[in-house]
Amino acid sequence: MCGIVGVLGTHEVAPILVDALRRLEYRGYDSAGIATINDGKLARRRAVGKLVNLSDLLVHDPLAGKSGIGHTRWATHGAPTVANAHPHRAGDVAVVHNGIIENYKELRAELAQAGIEPQTQTDTETIALLTHQFLASGKSATEAAMATLGRLEGAFALAFLFEGEQDLMIAARKGSPLAIGHGDGEMYVGSDAFALAPMTNQVTYLEEGDSAILTRTSVEIRDAEGRLVNREQKTIQVDAARVDKDGYKHFMAKEIAEQPSVLANALSAYVTEHGIALPDPGIDFSKIDRLTMVACGTAFYACFTAKYWFEQLAGMPVEVDVASEFRYREPPITKGTAALFVSQSGETADTLAALRYCQGKADKIFSVVNVSESSIARESDLALPIHAGAEIGVASTKAFTCQLNVLLLLALKAAVERGRMTQDRLEDILEGLRAMPGTFNAALDRDADFSSISSRLAESRDVLFLGRGLMYPLALEGALKLKEISYIHAEAYASGELKHGPIALIDQHMPVVVFAPKDSLFEKTVSNMQEVMARGGKVVLITDAAGAEAAGEDVWRTVVLPAVPEVLSPLLYALPAQLLAYHTAVAKGTDVDQPRNLAKSVTVE
Ligand code: F6R
Repeated sequence: MCGIVGVLGTHEVAPILVDALRRLEYRGYDSAGIATINDGKLARRRAVGKLVNLSDLLVHDPLAGKSGIGHTRWATHGAPTVANAHPHRAGDVAVVHNGIIENYKELRAELAQAGIEPQTQTDTETIALLTHQFLASGKSATEAAMATLGRLEGAFALAFLFEGEQDLMIAARKGSPLAIGHGDGEMYVGSDAFALAPMTNQVTYLEEGDSAILTRTSVEIRDAEGRLVNREQKTIQVDAARVDKDGYKHFMAKEIAEQPSVLANALSAYVTEHGIALPDPGIDFSKIDRLTMVACGTAFYACFTAKYWFEQLAGMPVEVDVASEFRYREPPITKGTAALFVSQSGETADTLAALRYCQGKADKIFSVVNVSESSIARESDLALPIHAGAEIGVASTKAFTCQLNVLLLLALKAAVERGRMTQDRLEDILEGLRAMPGTFNAALDRDADFSSISSRLAESRDVLFLGRGLMYPLALEGALKLKEISYIHAEAYASGELKHGPIALIDQHMPVVVFAPKDSLFEKTVSNMQEVMARGGKVVLITDAAGAEAAGEDVWRTVVLPAVPEVLSPLLYALPAQLLAYHTAVAKGTDVDQPRNLAKSVTVE
């Protein structure tokens, strides 16, 4: 994954690089490092762990210079150690890399034959060693970098810096995004425009296979075939302000709490007093035979929820898949298929690859994203922003509810176009949706209940989540949230599946969280809940007042949420999924916003 940045500047560059890395820390936080050139000399500083460790190191051991590159790492090859931290250096070249070099073992073997031994376990060091070898053979810095690029297989966004070359940086992208920023007598590269936002709003996105030769005043871009190309310079609108916690203990707490206002804002973009006002997705759903939805993680669970909506409301055949499987399954995409990709970051490598697989096959490619300038947004026929605002906590919360919001509106639009919904029914649902921010507030008022249950969940080794129908994807989301931030093993099952195996897990130590509003499937879920309680399982029931009354007294803990129309329940039940995970993680004292081993944007497959 990793985030990279490069600056050919006119001011001391170390603090600028560190600030840009802070904006890229969502891409990984296993280690961080920078390299600069001062008086022609290349030097670097690297530290394991969060960026703050690098900042501390720079206080004691500063690095001067006006040209530099920086990196924040999510470890792929090699443990998070200082030796494996970027920038990697070999002789006169330093390089930062986002991605994976697939042929690095082959390249290492070649280097070994020439008597060159790597000092680290990373694939990236091979790039530096290879470039160094080309430099030693008499090539110029630019020639050496280009020759190296010609040897690399896999995915990469790269920035090279050379000793003695204060006004030169080489950048390249294949598979991983890279933006070039244009300043006043300065030039920048970054994994995304957000990293560059304090420096410039003038950005050129490199395309697949592009390489760029940058000086402070010029940029020369070549395509994969080495032809000089013009890539559009855009004025981008990215808020440069760094988002802060506004007094909350964690970003995740803030992002959960702001969902009423965020949803209200998202609704104001897409629902007017006249009805749904989505930008035209360029699809007439009555002419579409099948919808294919692809995403990863939480975004996948949003798609899975939407499958129920599209099928039930619009009578539309829907296929959903996780992107990492979809892309290699070689699924036939027949005419009449619309392909929809959902991603908060818009940079998830597997989702992007799945989108590319559908290009030229599906009738229409559209996406639901939070980052409008992202690769997935740019490569779709139409991108619908979810308007969630910057999401900093690694665990997705407000982006999930905002994804659900847009997906529901699309399903409603499809239902109308396919003649499956009356205007009155549509108006009823929209009315409920307009009221949802207030309903969210009422659910957030139950915070103390979730906190008290979570203090018990925190003592558990395993937790099971159950749900039926629209609540099944929510159970999956609840389990994912809990494991990623509290490190407690959690699994989710469709309630009806329990007796086909997982019920064997139930004993008096096993908390079972059941999402069950009093809906059309409630009685069936309650039967499954009884099966759990009969075997000593401790049921945490999340329901509404009618559900709590009907469930009886043997339930271990019940939290009562407001009653909402069945079709809207996934939006509301996202909140307990988040709150249970959040409070459990706080009770366990884990790093809520930056849980171990994870990164916010997964740009490797
Ligand atoms: C879980 C979580 C991840 C992401 C997944 C996809 O809380 O955040 O599962 O949902 O990595 O990321 P995006 O939506 O950026 O494609």
